[in-house]
Order: sequence, then structure tokens, then C-alpha cells
Amino acid sequence: MEQNISGKTSLVGVIGWPVGHSLSPRMHNSAFVALGIDWAYVPLPVCHDDVEPALRGLAALNFIGANVTVPHKQAVMRYLDELSDAAKITGAVNTIHIRDGKFYGYNTDAIGFLNALREAGYRPKGWRVAVLGAGGAARAVVYALAREEAAAITVINRTAERAAFLVDDLADTFPDITLGFELLTAETLSTLDGRVDMVVNTTSAGMYPQVNVSPWPAGVPLPKQAIFYDLVYNPLRTMLLQQAEAAGLPTVDGLGMLVHQGAFALQTWTGCEAPLAVMRQACLEGF
Ligand code: ATR
Repeated sequence: MEQNISGKTSLVGVIGWPVGHSLSPRMHNSAFVALGIDWAYVPLPVCHDDVEPALRGLAALNFIGANVTVPHKQAVMRYLDELSDAAKITGAVNTIHIRDGKFYGYNTDAIGFLNALREAGYRPKGWRVAVLGAGGAARAVVYALAREEAAAITVINRTAERAAFLVDDLADTFPDITLGFELLTAETLSTLDGRVDMVVNTTSAGMYPQVNVSPWPAGVPLPKQAIFYDLVYNPLRTMLLQQAEAAGLPTVDGLGMLVHQGAFALQTWTGCEAPLAVMRQACLEGF
């Protein structure tokens, strides 16, 4: 079966700059075909100055919604009518749903991260976790882990002030969780042995084209018995995951989160259960 776009087709898309390399159009269109529903997903390049007119345009063109990607995840927020708790607390929106002329904003990264972790067979309740990085992705991960009642989360970043700000910001919302921050250095990482159950990389270190880079300096021993989760999906086997594998540690790659954040968005727009295997395969073919 193929897409047969007509005047009745329901439209969604992704706004960002650039969007040329986004895997989302491929992932969602494959899902729509598999579900047999008359929907289409288009890339919508929107430059910095055009965020507000682009959103008005979506409504005027009767789009059902859109994903939002870099660099507009924060900028769109002021134009939305309602925000989910995840969007409010993480301070970023990656999915918009337009219903009855109103704009609803969601952040599906946190649920995507958790569902991928669950799919890999893990539940982080009671865990001690080190989160590398303190940007938007780190914020979604810390929020997700705190919601799942991780026992302790340490945000480790190259720029300590940014980690401190993130921790400060979320500490009030999650008073029962031990939240801390540290500077990303070889010395800090070498002290994690026996202190963490999982290490999550949310930094872009190791992402294409820097495939030989790792946030974990070579020679620094990895904590024994920790799971290594890398949000980077291009490439899937990052340098960090190769280091973890070489140390005999379990790993989770970034594909699951990519698929699950998309699945949650698709379900929000269409009400259909997302065909996860089809979406995963579409991403793999797009790499
Ligand atoms: P995102 O929204 O995807 O999280 P971001 O907000 O730009 O992106 O954040 C990128 C994160 O990766 C930051 O924590 C950044 O560290 P700084 O705050 O010190 O800039 C981190 N990062 C990027 N490249 C890195 C590298 N080579 N080594 C370590 N950390 C890196």
C-alpha cells in the first residue's frame, strides 16, 4: 500500500531548522501506511524569525499538529494555549496538537526515554543514575527518572553552572529525590564505580560526524555493574557504547527513544496505537 494524498488527507509535520535530515517524515509516513490511515507528515523548514507565523500557518492550513525540533523547542512555548506537565517542567515542547483552534504542547522525549528503557527490560525505580550533559535532552531524562522514582540522580556536565541550574530548577518539583551535580572530568567519572546503576549520555559527544569522540575519556575505568544508555542514535553503536561493551556492561542505544517519542506523538494526533516495529525499521533504513 502507498500514500494517496488528497484533499481529505490529515496533515502533520515537523518544524525546525534545518529539517532536511530528520528521520521523522519517514518514520511517521511508514506508520500511517501500515495503519492504513489517510495521513501525511511533511518536513517544514522554519527559520528563527518565522516561528509565530509558522504556527498560525499550521492552524490556517488545518494541520492536526506538528513536531518541533532544534532550535524552536523553547521558542514555540509562548504561542501555545496549554502545556503538559512534562513540557512545563522540562521547559521544552517537541509535539503540538491543534484541537478546536487551540494549541496544546507536549514533550514526548521523557516518555520516549522511559518506554525505550522499559522495552529494554529495565525499570529505574530506586536506581542511582549519572546523567552526562545538562541541555534539553538531559532535562527530559532527569524529569523522566525523577517521575519513575529513581533514588539519586547526578547531573555531570562540562559546564558546571549549567548542571547546577538544571538541578536547582527541578529540585523543588522532586523533593524526595537526591539530585546533585558534578563537573565532567576524568576524576569525577572515576569515582562513580559502585555509586551508580546507570549512566545516561545526553551530550552530543559521539554523534556523527564526531564518531570517534566519547564523553568518557579513554583509560578511565567504567563503573562495574552499571547500564550504559546513549541517547545518540547516529551512529547507533557510539564510541561510549563500544567502551561499555568492551567492559562487558549492558547497553541501550538511542533508537528506542527516537521511536518511542515519535510513537507517543503519533498516538496523540491520531488516537491509533503506534506500529513500533514499522517505525523502528523505517528509521534503520533512513540512517
Ligand atoms: P540538547 O538539547 O540535545 O540536550 P544542548 O542543549 O545543546 O542539546 O546540550 C548539549 C549538551 O552536550 C551540553 O550539556 C553540552 O555541554 P556544555 O553545557 O558544557 O556545553 C554537552 N556537550 C556537547 N559536546 C560535548 C563534548 N564533546 N563533551 C562533553 N559534553 C558535550
